Amino acid sequence: MANYTKILLREDEMPRQWYNLNADFPTPMPPPVGMDGQPITPEALAPVFPMNLIEQEMCTDRWVDIPEEILGMLRIWRPSPLYRARRLEQALGTPAKIFYKNEGVSPAGSHKPNSAVAQAWYNKQFGIKRLCTETGAGQWGSALSFACKLVGISCRVFMVRISFDQKPFRQMMMRTWGGECVASPSELTETGRRILAENPSTPGSLGIAISEAIEQAVQDPECRYALGSVLNHVMLHQTIIGLETQKQLAQVGEYPDVVIGCAGGGSNFAGMAFPFIGDKIAGKQVRILAIEPEACPTLTRAPYVYDTGDCAMMTPLLPMHSLGHTFVPEPIHAGGLRYHGMAPMVSHGVQLGLIEPQSIGQMECYQAAVQFAHNEGFIPAPETSHAIASAIREAQRAKEEGQERTIVLNWSGHGLMDLTGYQAYFDGKLADYALPEEMMARSLSALEGLPKPA
Ligand SMILES: Cc1ncc(COP(=O)(O)O)c(C=O)c1O
Repeated sequence: MANYTKILLREDEMPRQWYNLNADFPTPMPPPVGMDGQPITPEALAPVFPMNLIEQEMCTDRWVDIPEEILGMLRIWRPSPLYRARRLEQALGTPAKIFYKNEGVSPAGSHKPNSAVAQAWYNKQFGIKRLCTETGAGQWGSALSFACKLVGISCRVFMVRISFDQKPFRQMMMRTWGGECVASPSELTETGRRILAENPSTPGSLGIAISEAIEQAVQDPECRYALGSVLNHVMLHQTIIGLETQKQLAQVGEYPDVVIGCAGGGSNFAGMAFPFIGDKIAGKQVRILAIEPEACPTLTRAPYVYDTGDCAMMTPLLPMHSLGHTFVPEPIHAGGLRYHGMAPMVSHGVQLGLIEPQSIGQMECYQAAVQFAHNEGFIPAPETSHAIASAIREAQRAKEEGQERTIVLNWSGHGLMDLTGYQAYFDGKLADYALPEEMMARSLSALEGLPKPA
């Protein structure tokens, strides 16, 4: 195996349990609370999510069995390959070893189906007939449309307007899997109508789309809402990525010095990183990097607060880094990284010093994506390019320091549905954009009067 390019697991080597970092945090996370600052009860979430997923959301067991039927669906594309990026290493002239876990091999082209099939299955088990959701880049909406078709329930997706316009083929994918895709803000909900009246040309945001989807779900007893990131149970479902990676690295006698993932709502990052953070808490030396865009610098610049996950304040207050629930990010091409908040588990990891956040501008990310494609062939999603850019920085640092280093990144998805972003880059139409202080101050003012995490 000396010259291996990819490390493959057999289907029977796929992990049969998810890993829950909530069992191992040295101090527990603050709970989600209501507007009165009191922890919310499971019953308060019941109109939005099925009880079996609410239980998972609150679970603190270290290991959670993956039901056999979910394993069966995951086996359509899992275990996913772990690649050694030998050609990229050579091009960089680095002594570092770079590994990437290719989550782009799923039917929808990203890590999102790992949680979509689980959420669709738990909802079906609970007797739910329809799911409503939001999507940023279109990846989650496609993943959930696919998953709902597999388990036999229907799916409506509110897609952030800017992505709806930039990515018509994502809409076609959703339709192919039987999903219904609506541009958000829409005329279908009160929230959408109100926002359109205030600003008819708004590019939309994930926060708005989430409000629309929740509003529809709570009005129909046979419908629930599904979220593609942020929540504890989504992080849990994604840990299969890091658990497979640990087995694959062990097969070639490697352990990472650095683990890298891009972070929008935090799910692909968590999926790769949490099993390694478990190791780190147990004493292993490993750096864990979460990479976000400069245009939406949630972990690097926003305060750690209680805020809602959506713009209409329909969700409970979550303890997280947040730019404020009214924040509408610039329309950069990494649509999936344009979210005002962050998974509470990821934010907690940052607060505890277990995770190092970094922000990178989109020009460096596209450069990295193109360099990756030139050497490794695969064209990454614009979100994924943030992890690649950071890995390249680490590999260059290893070269300057003349040190071997093992870098593992989560290659969260392919960019074959995101080529308009590449076109804009090649045509010289993209620029870096760092969020101005005054804009951040304006959106943070929405947090005034809300309770603060202890
Ligand atoms: C390919 C890809 N990577 C990353 C993300 C960011 O989401 P998360 O932070 O939940 O992984 C998205 C979101 O749509 C995505 O499509």
